[in-house]
Amino acid sequence: MKAKLAAIPRVKIANLPTPIEKSTRLATKIGIRELWIKRDDLTGLALGGNKTRKLEYLIADAQSHGAKTLITAGAVQSNHCRQTAAAAAKFGFDCVLVLTGEPPARYSGNLLLDRLFGAEIVWCPKEAREKTLQEVFQRLWQEGKRPYLIPYGGSNALGALAYAQAVIELSEQGINVDWIVFPSSSGGTQAGMILGSKLCGANSRILGISVDLPAAELRQRIFQLSNEAIDAYSFTFSVGIEEIWVNDAYRGEGYGIPTEGDRQAVLEFARYEGMLLDPVYTGRAAAGLIDLINQGTIPSNSSVLFWHTGGSPALFADSYQGLFFANP
Ligand SMILES: Cc1ncc(COP(=O)(O)O)c(C=O)c1O
Repeated sequence: MKAKLAAIPRVKIANLPTPIEKSTRLATKIGIRELWIKRDDLTGLALGGNKTRKLEYLIADAQSHGAKTLITAGAVQSNHCRQTAAAAAKFGFDCVLVLTGEPPARYSGNLLLDRLFGAEIVWCPKEAREKTLQEVFQRLWQEGKRPYLIPYGGSNALGALAYAQAVIELSEQGINVDWIVFPSSSGGTQAGMILGSKLCGANSRILGISVDLPAAELRQRIFQLSNEAIDAYSFTFSVGIEEIWVNDAYRGEGYGIPTEGDRQAVLEFARYEGMLLDPVYTGRAAAGLIDLINQGTIPSNSSVLFWHTGGSPALFADSYQGLFFANP
């Protein structure tokens, strides 16, 4: 079955395998016996992140459909949109991003990079996202621009395969841990990790820290995605909902609104590891990790791998100015 996965077409974008670093100072600070960090923030495309892996499969699929334009959607500071815009530039596609919200006064963070990569940006309210995506698709189709729609977060069965392959990569790096912790949002990363664990017989507990969705909704989404991938690629195992571990206790007031825990986690990774997290995704997952260790849910004698999924360009977004320090 690993061979079947390896045969699925993909383009080469990411620098793989991404490194795994052993943390010592931070591990001591947060009170865990063994802490590894898998550096998917170093995938290499346009400041890196987890979407690079998914795009390797999605771009190959777009090419096989004869597409000329990639369309996707996300929040103003979407890392997925930034990476899609960069991949579009690299592979010669036009790119249209449907971003939810109002255009800000200035381009900053990921949004600045979207523009650098030449993406067209269409703004819409969140409720109108699906309708707007369809309208953009129709317009491009009528203009002969052969659109290809990449789902929100790159999370469909094909995108999820990327993280199945990533878990196989991890097992080939010879690291076996009790827990794998990371931010989970549209579910493709976690669905893929669960599939990959089944494919290589790994038994780490895969714990997604929900960035925005209630646990029941996110688990259902991951369940659906992983089973769609199983059907689409005829894998001979199943994923039960009870195997999907999600913690939604760190969502605070919602997506993109950093909590004090998020803020502290970003500061601790910076000051004890010299490592940049981000205020939306990895900061939240790290806040969850630190708290779960403090509570004893993750016992202090465990080995943990924190899967760093990227996102640091959002640190430079105008909307997060003043989050860490008052401006001088
Ligand atoms: C930095 C970062 N981490 C994690 C995620 C969540 O990944 P997924 O949407 O596959 O659950 C995202 C999604 O946008 C992200 O940008």
